[in-house]
Amino acid sequence: MAPTSAHAPDRADAPWWRHAVIYQVYPRSWADSDGDGIGDLPGITARLDHLRDLGVDALWLSPFYTSPQADAGYDVADYRDVDPTFGTLADADALITRAHELGLRVIVDLVPNHSSDAHPWFRAALAAPAGSPERDRYLFRDGKGAGGDLPPNNWESVFGGPAWTRVTEPDGTPGQWYLHLFDTRQPDFNWDKPQVRAEFESVLRFWLDRGVDGFRVDVAHGLIKKAGLPDHRARTHMLGDTEDAAVHVLDGESPEPTHHTPYWDQDGVHDVYRSWRALLDSYGSPDRILCAEAWVEPQERSVRYIRPDEMHQAFNFDFLGTPWVAEDLVAVIDRSLDAADSVGAPSTWVLSNHDVVRHATRLGYAPGTKRPNGIGAEDPQPDRELGLRRARAATALMLALPGSAYLYQGEELGLPDSTEVPDELREDPTFRRSGGTEKGRDGCRVPIPWSSAAPSLGFGPTHRTWLPQPAVYASYAVDRQAGVEGSTLELYRALLRLRREVSVGTGSLAFVEGYGPDVVAFVNEGVSRSRLLVVANLGPEPVALPEGADLLVSSGPLTDGRVPMDTTVWALWP
Ligand code: NOJ
Repeated sequence: MAPTSAHAPDRADAPWWRHAVIYQVYPRSWADSDGDGIGDLPGITARLDHLRDLGVDALWLSPFYTSPQADAGYDVADYRDVDPTFGTLADADALITRAHELGLRVIVDLVPNHSSDAHPWFRAALAAPAGSPERDRYLFRDGKGAGGDLPPNNWESVFGGPAWTRVTEPDGTPGQWYLHLFDTRQPDFNWDKPQVRAEFESVLRFWLDRGVDGFRVDVAHGLIKKAGLPDHRARTHMLGDTEDAAVHVLDGESPEPTHHTPYWDQDGVHDVYRSWRALLDSYGSPDRILCAEAWVEPQERSVRYIRPDEMHQAFNFDFLGTPWVAEDLVAVIDRSLDAADSVGAPSTWVLSNHDVVRHATRLGYAPGTKRPNGIGAEDPQPDRELGLRRARAATALMLALPGSAYLYQGEELGLPDSTEVPDELREDPTFRRSGGTEKGRDGCRVPIPWSSAAPSLGFGPTHRTWLPQPAVYASYAVDRQAGVEGSTLELYRALLRLRREVSVGTGSLAFVEGYGPDVVAFVNEGVSRSRLLVVANLGPEPVALPEGADLLVSSGPLTDGRVPMDTTVWALWP
């Protein structure tokens, strides 16, 4: 048993974001201070101790800006204000201040591809004539066919249905069409216009001046569309199947490079990010960061977003979409580190977020299972126990990898998706736009259980929750797990503490061979010179640790001192 080729370590004094663990808070669903059933900023501030105790470095907040909530806040009507549902600007300031007091950095969401249809610019565009400067800040076009009755091209919305909606002109006649890659109520900006670019630079400054530490950039690969807006026959799926988080498929064919689609990953997006990087750098030390949400294939294209003068990080959706199969995991880890190394960036790692089925649920199906996006009560149900066991092992594997990791709220509790949301309560526009063939993302967005015996499981002071919490969530509540040996919460706390102690995030990685095809085994050598041996066993035969290995933590019980199936251990190895 010997380590093979190594991925190089980072510098000991590497900037924070090269090794940070960043926790995603979905404001609607984390904590509700006023009892209206929807989470809010004061609720988050009051619960920040949870993140300090967990041991993360930063939190990323999904959008809390003024919005009609047609896509849960990813439809922004005012980029410089807080929606009354979530609080006020003063509440945002208080949250940032408190987080910093606790040693937590704050990353906010930036949604530059599209606004809400309630944004003043879009309202002005509707009121202005075709060809006006007001229309030109969005992508308005005349329709095809007699009377312009047909959409300008054949592009489809990621959420289903056509990507174009026809407007009624101020004089009451049917008029032009506007592009929306997502919901009808999310019109795409025209990034060829200097005014759009200037506006977003001003928005960045607005939040940087309020003290935020960075931005997660929504649909970072979508801003620039190919000139002429040519037809394209691919449909982009938002969520992917159980084992396939890739979003871009030609129906019935293998995935093609994303940039072949005229609205994704066009080269022009990189000019935008270079200018943003310069803007952030002008704020000096410590670094403020940009993280790309870019569903881009192949990986050689996706790392272009994290070249030295562009963004700092990009989500590694390749890792998220990898099935629970040892050789696939080894391959994606190796590939990810190589790709990030090629541009001098750290890799990131992520298993769950607000757009995908939680990994405790995803992994409760057999590897390779295909099913629609989101799970309903009538769909085949996951094996919850198996899913949790594998989820704990997958997280222990992820948190042992060098680079930066993203956690999604509730995963530290081992929370599964709710598969019980009744269709009439579903809010995700994908459900409606797909005619119900896709259940959508509500199942992973259900409010968090804090106290097993309190109303709304401690989410807020009343029984109200914007999505119903399934009864089983009580058993996952924070108060059932805090201080309980072997609980998922205590496992996450231990992993995060040890990760810091042995400098996992800045370490080097070398795979260990000799365990066979069902095991992922590697050594992460931290800058503190501790050699962390990580063994994840995905096969039925328990495996032994090498002589001298000193067990630090295990995602589940060992069998006679050996690592059983669907279990990951960390050990110090002299
Ligand atoms: C990606 C976000 O994560 C998702 O929630 C949203 O619906 C789309 N972008 C559109 O903004």
